[in-house]
Amino acid sequence: MYRIVKKKQLSEKIFLMNIEAPRIAKSALPGQFVIIKLHEKGERIPLTIADYDREEGTVSIVVQAVGGSTQRMETMNEGDHIMDIAGPLGKPSDFIEEFEEMKDKKILFVAGGVGSAPVYPQVKWLHEHGMDTDVIIGGRSADLVILKEEMSKVANEVYVATDDGSLGMKGRVTDMIDHLVKVEGKKYDLVIAIGPLIMMKFVALQTKELGISTVVSMNPIMVDGTGMCGACRVTVGDKIKFACVDGPEFDGHLVDFDEAMRRSTTYKEKEKLQQFKAEE
Ligand code: FES
Repeated sequence: MYRIVKKKQLSEKIFLMNIEAPRIAKSALPGQFVIIKLHEKGERIPLTIADYDREEGTVSIVVQAVGGSTQRMETMNEGDHIMDIAGPLGKPSDFIEEFEEMKDKKILFVAGGVGSAPVYPQVKWLHEHGMDTDVIIGGRSADLVILKEEMSKVANEVYVATDDGSLGMKGRVTDMIDHLVKVEGKKYDLVIAIGPLIMMKFVALQTKELGISTVVSMNPIMVDGTGMCGACRVTVGDKIKFACVDGPEFDGHLVDFDEAMRRSTTYKEKEKLQQFKAEE
């Protein structure tokens, strides 16, 4: 059992939890994720590691209460226990291994909604290694822009775009990219975009046109998290990849986003049924 040591509401439906998991905290790296199971029959919820504290032995996750299991998590509080957490899973961000070649490059992170959670440890890791990066945070409205304060402490610049203009520039993250590159004349060697599939798709299309290499982080339905069940299949170029073991990060210019979006809705009904059974 894993104890929730801290819970913080980030917006109406989004919350952060620090969970005691010393073994995971010891080896976690940016880009990796955990799979959480609340009870014996519960669905497996893949969540990216938003932060880790090796000394305290805790990992942080950010959850948006959108389905049965995440809504159930929302009712949990400090001192409650989560039945199972598997991790760290997935490959750490490529820039960790390639840091020597990367350190003079200019990186722009693009975070959409809860995508700020996986972006934050990456920006923080780079900052701790002497590399400050620019970050765009996007959301439908101000209350869905999360971790801005935390991000500002570790990024070079944080730019905000909201669909309704309630915070930062009125528009999408792609409008902000256009502004930074075309109006402000900023040059980037790499864009790392993490957020909803539709956002990553349009960022990747835009950066392809701009000629900027792009990495995206896929968050499909996962079952075993070990590359055996095939649930997290993603087509990248002409290859089939499994997000849980080959990813979750892939070349954004090669990912078949339309297929990924189709697959994500195919599972919606099954997901509902599974939740229903688990809650019976
Ligand atoms: Fe089963 Fe990835 S979750 S193959």
